[in-house]
Amino acid sequence: MAKESYEQRFLEKLNVPETLTFDDVLLRPTESNVEPEQAGTDTNVSKSVTLSVPVLSAAMDTVTSTEMAIEMARQGGLGVLHRNMSVEATGDAVERVKRADELIIRDVVTASPDQTVQEVDAMMSSEGVSGAPVVDDDDIVLGIISGTDIRPYLEVGDRDEVREAMTDEVITASDDVTAREALELMYEHKIERVPIVDENGTLTGLVTMQGILQRREYDAAARDSSGRLRVGVAVGPFEEDRAVVADEAGADVLFIDCAHAHNRSVIDSAKAIKSAVDADVVVGNIGTAEAARELIDFADGLKVGIGPGSICTTRVVSGAGMPQITAIASVADVAAEHDVPVIADGGIRYSGDAIKAIAAGADAVMLGSYFAGTDEAPGRIITMNGKKYKQYRGMGSVGAMQSGGGDRYLKDADEDEEYVPEGVEAATPYKGSLESELHQLVGGMQSGMGYVGAESIQDVKETAEFVRVSPAGQTEGHPHDVVITDEAPNYKPRE
Ligand code: XMP
Repeated sequence: MAKESYEQRFLEKLNVPETLTFDDVLLRPTESNVEPEQAGTDTNVSKSVTLSVPVLSAAMDTVTSTEMAIEMARQGGLGVLHRNMSVEATGDAVERVKRADELIIRDVVTASPDQTVQEVDAMMSSEGVSGAPVVDDDDIVLGIISGTDIRPYLEVGDRDEVREAMTDEVITASDDVTAREALELMYEHKIERVPIVDENGTLTGLVTMQGILQRREYDAAARDSSGRLRVGVAVGPFEEDRAVVADEAGADVLFIDCAHAHNRSVIDSAKAIKSAVDADVVVGNIGTAEAARELIDFADGLKVGIGPGSICTTRVVSGAGMPQITAIASVADVAAEHDVPVIADGGIRYSGDAIKAIAAGADAVMLGSYFAGTDEAPGRIITMNGKKYKQYRGMGSVGAMQSGGGDRYLKDADEDEEYVPEGVEAATPYKGSLESELHQLVGGMQSGMGYVGAESIQDVKETAEFVRVSPAGQTEGHPHDVVITDEAPNYKPRE
């Protein structure tokens, strides 16, 4: 009798639930009156941060540093800065993103009245500006000098002082000026820059026509209440110092960057970080409802993904993981009851995967490999066998861990100890601009919304249904029985 119950105890373990991932399911088409281009893509990425595009770039050192974060926010998504850098460098990177499209430039290049025209001309070209406010030693604005003032035909000599050449009737504005007011001043006075001054006439900033036009170009950009670009920052599970520095520098969302956040000490530390900062705190990664229940009281968002990533070896190395569609749905069931957004992180290869992730309960998706080949990702283009690539590596790969990211995997190898990596170092095809990749990704997601008749991301979450796909059905879903002659911008065969 005892023997039999012993055997059953282990046999019972094989009564396992079925788990599914992207290729196992398809969205069931339904009657629809939604045209894809009308499908709305606004979403919440954390309790207080909304985006017009439900997409994040992964916190990886071959995906998101400042250039990627700036472009992601301009396009309406969110870049999450990686953390393979010093805490101080994280603060600087956050400030760079926040300053990128600011209406009022704070770091103003100024001229002094007794510099020569030649000196100022050289200074303006080395700083990459075409004009500068002229200020005295106390930063009181005396005039403004621009390329037009110092063109040779205006009879100003190279050695003349700036005070001779500058325009001294300066149109200024105060700190609370709006883009529209600044533009009106510029049109009225036929000028291209307006110095911002305080009540004593001291320079505090500058608004330029070029800056305003650039902001207009990005009308769907993710911006905070002061109009600055939004930025996310990855912080290690035990890195309160990085969290505080990023928060003070203006980060909008902090992402606790851990491969297994359902861990007692990670949860305690994440709670401490949450109470030390003003920014929203998204916690991850997790893949089960129990983990979600542990985090739901304090997290402003939950990030899902245990081993689905393209460069991940977590599942083969550790034997643990959760197929991503099941993981998302398990977490989303808990999160939905508490209105906490869910981010599906990893494993997304096509736009169809992204909208399936939303249908399974995610509010937004995070991608690494999809963006690693774009111009905005760090690293140079390499050519192999005549084809262009960019480097892409897992943050749990030996290379990334050697440069500082090992604690994501709750591993703290001594310098002379051999690493046990959970990721690989790879190359990904070069893809050109992020803007065009995002256009394909979001356009494909909207196409999916058209097939399921959903006019918003919330609608997809609530109403879209899945069907199960057999291996034959999967084969049928990709181009078959043909030789592809021209690459499509949104499809590459699986390798
Ligand atoms: P994709 O599939 O978009 O996945 O390239 C990006 C996500 O993968 C996670 N990540 C890793 N997971 N080992 C892992 O098991 C790693 O070395 C690794 N590096 C990144 C991460 O969640 C990222 O957003």
